[in-house]
Order: sequence, then C-alpha cells, then structure tokens
Amino acid sequence: MSNDPQRITAAAPALLGYLRELVDHKRRAPADDLLSRLVQAQSADGRLSPEELVATTFLLLVAGHETTVHLIAAGMATLLLLHPEQLARLQRDRGLLPGAVEELLRYEGPVKTATLRFTTEPVELAGTRIPPNSPVAIALTSANRDDKQFDAADTLDITRPTAGHLAFGHGIHYCVGAPLARLEAHVAFTGLLDRYPDMQLPCAPGDLVWQPGMFRGLASLPIRLRPPGH
Ligand code: HEM
Repeated sequence: MSNDPQRITAAAPALLGYLRELVDHKRRAPADDLLSRLVQAQSADGRLSPEELVATTFLLLVAGHETTVHLIAAGMATLLLLHPEQLARLQRDRGLLPGAVEELLRYEGPVKTATLRFTTEPVELAGTRIPPNSPVAIALTSANRDDKQFDAADTLDITRPTAGHLAFGHGIHYCVGAPLARLEAHVAFTGLLDRYPDMQLPCAPGDLVWQPGMFRGLASLPIRLRPPGH
C-alpha cells in the first residue's frame, strides 16, 4: 500500500465506489459472509447508516489487511535474518508458535501509534502535565519495548511472557480482528515453515527497507525459497 498522499487521494474515491457497489450487490444477493451480515444488521434495525456501512467496510479492509501482511513479513524477516537460533527452536518445537506470534507482535508490532485519544481532565504522566481536551498520541511500539513492563524488552525471546503487550491496542477500541490476525499469522508461519524449512534471505539486515507511515512494515521482503530435498 502506498504512503504517497497524492496516490491515496486519487485512489480513495475509486475504492469507496467499489465498496458501495459491493454493499449494493450484497444487499441484492446476500451470501453467508461478513458483509451480508453487516448489510442485514443495517436494514434490520437501522443501526448503521449507508455511509457508516461503507466506512466500516473500508476500515475492515485497511485495518485488517496491511497490518497482518506486515506481521507475517516482518515476523519472518525477524526470525530468519536476525534470530535464526529462535527460528531453529520453533522448527524443533511447533508448540512454541502461539507464544512466538505474541512475541513478534510485541517486538515488531505493525501499528506504531493508536488513533488519537483526548484527555477529559488534566493528566500527570512521567512528570509532564497534559491539559484537558488535549490530543494524545500513544506510541504502542514504544510501550511494547518498555523495560519496566518486559525484562530486556529489546531482546526477542519467543518463550517470554508477553501478557499486557499493546500491539492490538487497549480498552474500548481494542482490535476487533485480533483473533483473526493471530489465526492468519499461525496459518502463514506454519505453512511457510512446513513447505520451506530452508528459507533464506538473500540480503543483509541493513538492506531491508522499512516503509514510512503509520505502520511498522517492510516495503518488500526478498526471500529465497528452497523446497525440502532441493
Ligand atoms: C497483526 C494484525 C493487526 C494489528 C497489529 C492490529 C492492531 C490494531 C490496533 C492497535 C487497534 C486499536 C487502534 C486504537 O486504539 O486506536 C486496532 C483496531 C481495529 N482493528 Fe486491528 N489489527 C490487526 C488486524 C486486524 C484485522 C485482521 C482486522 C479485521 C479483519 C482488524 C480490524 C480492526 C478494527 C475494525 C479496529 C477498530 C476497532 C475500534 O475502533 O473499535 N484488525 N487494530
């Protein structure tokens, strides 16, 4: 996905038009899928206006797609390139995979900052007084490397306790897709490790390009695949 504002501005109306058409199609021909259920929820009790319905679809697409792509790509790069010893542990004991996914979310979480919050009263935080009605940007990836919360927070350890990491946010806006994201990562890592146990990155860590913007993600991930026995 591009971070170029001009490309985003040009592409947004086309994507919204596509989603409006898709919603209309699901209204005419409902199927057993999420979008049809959202349409039905809307027409049953009017809880979602047509604009809200399209906006929700847009949010699901953007929030659900790129984040998970980054988790899978950055997760593989982190394990392969920077922590091959942890990858080897995972290959020996696949029971470590759920913990490894959580640790990759903590260590290299795809969402850098939460959406803005606003103070309703004065807040004192680490010696700084934030006045009421102020926007607050919460750096999730920084909180996940807080040594007060996690021992040696800058070290990747797929067996460490990760409870309390903020990769999916916190509170009322906690990621609604977290179980799906975990499942997708589990399926992707299992499939990749099964099919390509000898995967290699054909470049040095410094050659990987991290894209700018709100997500912590690789612009691309070069990878050399060698099926077993080759
Ligand atoms: C690794 C993958 C993912 C990460 C790291 C992630 C991260 C987050 C974070 C940090 C928030 C909270 C933002 C805030 O508090 O301001 C959030 C919200 C949200 N996420 Fe995810 N997400 C992921 C995957 C998904 C998937 C797969 C879906 C849906 C298919 C999804 C849908 C949403 C939606 C709709 C919200 C807004 C919830 C609300 O405002 O109540 N996310 N996500």
